Amino acid sequence: MAMLPSLPTSPLPPKPQEAQEDQECSDFISTLPRGGWGPIRTRKYQGFWVLEIALPSVMTIQKNFKPRPDDLFVVSYPKSGTTWLKAITFATKTRTQYPLSHHPLLSLNPHDCVLNLEECFHKGQASKIEALPSPRILAIHMPYSLLPDSMTSSSCRFVYICRDPKDTLVSMWHFREKTRPKTMEPTPFIEAFEAFCEGTSAVGPMWDHVLEYWRESQRRPEKVLFLKYEEMMDEPVGKVRRLAEFIGCPFSEAEEKGGVVQEIVKLCSFEKLKNLEANKTGTQGGPGMVVTNDSFFRKGGAGDWKNHMSPEMAQRLDGIAQQKLRESGLTLGSVGLEAASCNDVPARGP
Ligand code: A3P
Repeated sequence: MAMLPSLPTSPLPPKPQEAQEDQECSDFISTLPRGGWGPIRTRKYQGFWVLEIALPSVMTIQKNFKPRPDDLFVVSYPKSGTTWLKAITFATKTRTQYPLSHHPLLSLNPHDCVLNLEECFHKGQASKIEALPSPRILAIHMPYSLLPDSMTSSSCRFVYICRDPKDTLVSMWHFREKTRPKTMEPTPFIEAFEAFCEGTSAVGPMWDHVLEYWRESQRRPEKVLFLKYEEMMDEPVGKVRRLAEFIGCPFSEAEEKGGVVQEIVKLCSFEKLKNLEANKTGTQGGPGMVVTNDSFFRKGGAGDWKNHMSPEMAQRLDGIAQQKLRESGLTLGSVGLEAASCNDVPARGP
């Protein structure tokens, strides 16, 4: 069962051999193509634009991370609903361990309940991951093709959440503006938009990130559960039931009758979490990327892109996603609506 992590500790200074490896790693990174916008500085690595600051940890995970067969990973393209999915997964998995009325999510930020692998490695806290008892719930943003074989070929499982790319971009822009160092100039939205369309935003291109997990969910539905933010908004109870089945702890008849599913949905709702003290105060992240807990709860919901994009911009972004997802059976955001009148786009996905 997932154990709650203790407070972060400072990493030890690197040993000489580690220092040399660090140097080789930064030399290698400095040769990679650069992308991104404003505070998001990315490098093209194995086909994806990875945050420069996160790249050393991504490479270390590829080399050193040892998954356990019963690990469960919450996965997302950033700003797609990770915090929500972490809360729902954690609450569902631990519901018999903690009564929902006194659940850790009432006093801890969801990111403190489900640790992010890249962040722990970035902070030199891989040992915290090792110390967690099985079965662990962990989170990652890494694209599927960048994961080590040990993760893709073992029996560990992935729950993936995706969101309308337009809302994802708007959310990311706000998040980065809110967390931007005071010394840095604001980034005009249009600049973020262009980089996002080009795919150079963090772990972009988003459509490739989504597609890889989508394809794997189609190929191995027992390994990857693919969820959509908008569908979770529309039908949270059904999606929590589906998640519980996927992670091997379906709700019993007694739990169903007792309204446990609805209680989990309520506990993890935007309104509930946003107003908890633990989510109004405190921080996440590590050196070079500290963010306040309240930054993870902005507006919630679907369609805020309408307040930031012209119809032409929205059409352009939808068009790129539509083109990239062609023949995959997957649609995202309003692309699905357009697809209804477009003969050469396959039927809607899940
Ligand atoms: P907005 O910026 O559009 O409001 P992530 O968790 O991947 O960083 O994504 C953050 C987005 O999810 C933000 O979107 C945030 O408001 C929204 N969010 C956070 N908690 C949520 C919840 N419990 N239910 C629905 N949306 C949530």
